[in-house]
Amino acid sequence: MFHKQLKDFPKDFLWGSASAAYQVEGAWQEDGKGASVWDDFVRIPGKTFKGTNGDVAVDHYHRFKEDVALMKEQGLKTYRFSVAWTRIFPEGRGEVNQAGLDFYLALIDELLAAGIEPMVTLYHWDLPKALQEAYGGWESRQIIEDFTNYAATLFEAFRGKVKYWVSLNEQNVFTSLGYLLAAHPPGVTDPKRMYEVNHIANLANASVINTFHEMEIPGKIGPSFAYTPNYPINSDPKNILAAENAEDLMAHYWMDVYLWGEYPIAAMNFLKEQGIAPTIEPGDMELLRSAKPDFLGINYYQTATNAANPLDGVGAGKMNTTGEKGSSEETGTPGMFKKVENPFVDRTNWDWEIDPQGLRVALRRITSRYRIPVMITENGLGEYDKLTDDHQIHDQYRIDYLSSHVHAIKEAISDGAEVLGYCTWSFTDLLSWLNGYQKRYGFVYIDQDENQDGSLTRYKKDSFYWYQEVIKTNGQNS
Ligand code: NOJ
Repeated sequence: MFHKQLKDFPKDFLWGSASAAYQVEGAWQEDGKGASVWDDFVRIPGKTFKGTNGDVAVDHYHRFKEDVALMKEQGLKTYRFSVAWTRIFPEGRGEVNQAGLDFYLALIDELLAAGIEPMVTLYHWDLPKALQEAYGGWESRQIIEDFTNYAATLFEAFRGKVKYWVSLNEQNVFTSLGYLLAAHPPGVTDPKRMYEVNHIANLANASVINTFHEMEIPGKIGPSFAYTPNYPINSDPKNILAAENAEDLMAHYWMDVYLWGEYPIAAMNFLKEQGIAPTIEPGDMELLRSAKPDFLGINYYQTATNAANPLDGVGAGKMNTTGEKGSSEETGTPGMFKKVENPFVDRTNWDWEIDPQGLRVALRRITSRYRIPVMITENGLGEYDKLTDDHQIHDQYRIDYLSSHVHAIKEAISDGAEVLGYCTWSFTDLLSWLNGYQKRYGFVYIDQDENQDGSLTRYKKDSFYWYQEVIKTNGQNS
C-alpha cells in the first residue's frame, strides 16, 4: 500500500535500546550470585569464539551509572534489560538474595531519575544451573512453579517502578538452539525433547502472565518472539505452500499459543505424524487460553525465503526448525520447507539478510491476525566496527540499517499497526553469545579485545548521535 502521507510516531512512543544480563553485566560471582547454565557452557572447549565468556562482559554491573548517564545524554525513553535469575535466587528457588535485588533496584532508580522507563525481561536464557541439575530445567514441569515464584518476587519488588515487562526472550530460539542444534545449553539435539521443553515453557509463560494480572501490577507484560517472517521464493504454488508451512511451524507455532492459547493445526498434525508432538496434559490448554499478554514483543532481524522440500529432501535426518541459515549449507524441514537465498535483498557481513520491509510485513501480519499492540524489543545490525586512532567509530552502515527500519515502522503505523516502542539491539556493545566481541551492535563502542583485558572504555559511535536526533524529533529526522 502506498500512503499519500505517513502518520507521525505517537507522542509517547518509547524510543529505546536493549541488553541482556549475561551479555553486559559481568560480576559473575559477586554479591551472592549463583551459577547459570551459561557460566558452565562457555567453559566447554570450542563452544564460543576463542572461549570468550561473560565473567566480566562489559562490566555493566560496576559501570551502570556511567552507562545510564550515556543513555540520558542520548535521550532514551526506555531501556530494556534482563534480570539474572541467579542474582535473585542463587539456586533458582529458596531464599531471596537481597544483594541481587538491590543491584536491580539501584539500576531502576538510576534510570527513573534520568527520565528513562525501565523495561524488564524476566528470562534471557541464563537459567540457574542448580535447576538444570535438580530436574533438567525446562524439561520438568517443576519449573513452572519456580519461574512463577521468581517472577512474582520481581513484580512485588519493582511494583510501581517498572511498567513494562517481558516474560520470556525468544523462546523459539532458546528451545531450538538448546535442544535441536546443540548450539546453546544444554547442548542437546533431539526434536521430541525440544517440543516437550517448548510446551512447558509455554505453560510457564502463561502462568507468569496470569500471576502478573492477578497481582494487579500496574503495567504491561508480554513475551518477546524472534519473528522471522517467511516468504516464498516465487509464485509456484508448491513454493507458496512451503512458505505457509514455514510460517505455521516457525511462527504461528509460538505466536498462536501466546495470543490464542492454540497450536496451529497443520503444524501440530505434522509433529504428530513425525512422532515429536509435545505431551498435552488435561488442563494445559485451559491454562494457555487463559493467559492474555498486554502486548507482543518481537525481535526482528531478517526474513526467510522458502521453497518446497519433499519428505526425503534437504535436512533429512536433522530437522531444523530455527530459521537459522548457514552461509552455504542448505537447511530445511523435510516435508515442509527448505530455506533458500532471497535474491532481492542485501546481506550483512555476518550473512544476515537486510530487509526493512520485512519489519513492516511482520507488524502488519501480527496486527491483522492478533489485533494486539506490538513492542519491538530488538532490531539492529551486528558488524565489525573500527575504532579510529582519534577514538571515532564511523558506523554509517548501522545508521542506514536502523534508519530504513525506523521508516518501515512508520509505514506500518500508517497501515494501522499499533506500535508501542522500538528498542534497538543494543545500547553498548556487548558479548555475543557465541561470537565474542567481534560482532558489535551498540551505539556505544566498548574497548574490549577478545581476551577481555581491554580497558572497557566507552566511546560514542556516529550512530549514537544519529539516534539522539531521531529521539529528539520523535522520528521526524531519521
Ligand atoms: C537475539 C537475542 O535476544 C540477543 O541476546 C542476541 O544477542 C541478539 N538477538 C543478536 O543475535
